Amino acid sequence: MPLVVIVGCQWGDEGKGKVIDFLSHDADIVARYQGGNNAGHTVIVEGRKVVLHLIPSGVLHETNRSLIGNGVVVDPQALVDEIKMLETAGVNVRERLLVSETAHLIMPYHRKLDHMMEARRGDNKIGTTGRGIGCAYADKVARHGVRMLDLRDKDRFVRKVRTFSPYYQNLFEHYGENTWSEDAVVDEVWSLRDEILPLLVDGVTLINNELKAGKKVLAEGAQGILLDVDFGTYPFVTSSNPSPGGVCTGLGVGPCHIQRVVGVVKAYSTRVGSGPFITELDNELGEQIRAWGGEFGATTGRARRCGWFDCVAMRWSLQIGGITNLALMKLDVLDNLDEIQVCTHYLVDGKKVEMLPSGMETGEGIEPVYKTFKGWKKPLTGARSWDDLPGEAKDYILALEELIGARMDFISVGPDRKQTIFRSGDDLFNLKA
Ligand code: GDP
Ligand code: IMO
Ligand code: MG
Repeated sequence: MPLVVIVGCQWGDEGKGKVIDFLSHDADIVARYQGGNNAGHTVIVEGRKVVLHLIPSGVLHETNRSLIGNGVVVDPQALVDEIKMLETAGVNVRERLLVSETAHLIMPYHRKLDHMMEARRGDNKIGTTGRGIGCAYADKVARHGVRMLDLRDKDRFVRKVRTFSPYYQNLFEHYGENTWSEDAVVDEVWSLRDEILPLLVDGVTLINNELKAGKKVLAEGAQGILLDVDFGTYPFVTSSNPSPGGVCTGLGVGPCHIQRVVGVVKAYSTRVGSGPFITELDNELGEQIRAWGGEFGATTGRARRCGWFDCVAMRWSLQIGGITNLALMKLDVLDNLDEIQVCTHYLVDGKKVEMLPSGMETGEGIEPVYKTFKGWKKPLTGARSWDDLPGEAKDYILALEELIGARMDFISVGPDRKQTIFRSGDDLFNLKA
């Protein structure tokens, strides 16, 4: 019953799309368990680029099925648009895509509210993607949510919209924002119903039956552990649990089913939006890394903040994630550097700190301590095996492994599927170099 989880270990955009793509070649089903269309997962196959926001990245392997699990919040318009985008790209998706009937909907008013709340936060804004994610999750937990299965019953759907709509209308009026027509909201969402209803399933029973039948299931994390609402740099986080605990609640599987947790991490760090980032390079070098790495958001196009690899943050993610295998991504982005720095620990009030302080809301009073490594100054993009790597690149990887106490089983040296070094002999992944 192989259930393999793929999870980001930093603040998202680690290269999960690529890892899911190469690990899902023999999967029976790939399932998203949290988040929504705030994600942007890029897959490049033979020069063709596809960015997936809501549909699991495994969909590009035509033999897989894809599930959007109950823990995901689904913007119905974004879902229909993404299906059409894939169809235009020649990917047959409708017969292979399933959506849990208990997944919650992102309603048009959630998007509006997300924008309004961000504007009101002023200097304390989170820098959300503006997709209404937090507002949809807030309604879910407050028990005001509209679920996929409500699309089967117009009276129930309309009743839900009409019951909770006045609450939002009042809020908007209070802050001098435009209100909206309830009928227009109902019509907008209801008009997508015929495209969505055929996709709905009992996702929990589906996944558990697959596991019982010995099928290979991949759980695709969005965002990353440092953006987790419980374990990330709160309040500068997303509103779900990207960490593997979210797999159990977001798909309805018991924790004993999880056989591997593949952590995805970049050879440096990035973050989009606000919040503490101890190793940030807010300078020319940071801009240079951004340019080399193409570090612009796959969802919003925003420039990603760039900085050095942070072992302190990484130790935290390894601890939370129960990571069994690591994928080190974008090593080639560091090709041109004379020197590369790695944050080995922090100094907080003069004391050495090796584990991310739980509850860290700001970077105030925290000083990163770096170890400097010699750059390799050669292009890595053609490397296909460990032996192809220059000595300095091997030294960098081995030092990271020692500093964080975990092995890098996959090393990525370019965006394409083929630009990957497989060091893992694990049969479960069934991979060849
Ligand atoms: P995700 O959200 O974790 O799936 O990551 P994104 O797709 O948002 O961002 C990762 C970006 O890096 C994408 O543009 C990928 O095509 C690209 N990428 C992935 N792996 C590598 C790599 O090893 N080297 C380089 N240069 N780019 C990579
Ligand atoms: P993938 O899956 C990077 C960030 C936003 C913001 C915070 C909250 O591509 O790695 P939200 O819209 O979720 O309420 O925003 O989380 N964020 C991401 N950053 N990659 C992502 O997804 C992200 N999804 C959300 O920038 O700081
Ligand atoms: Mg992304």
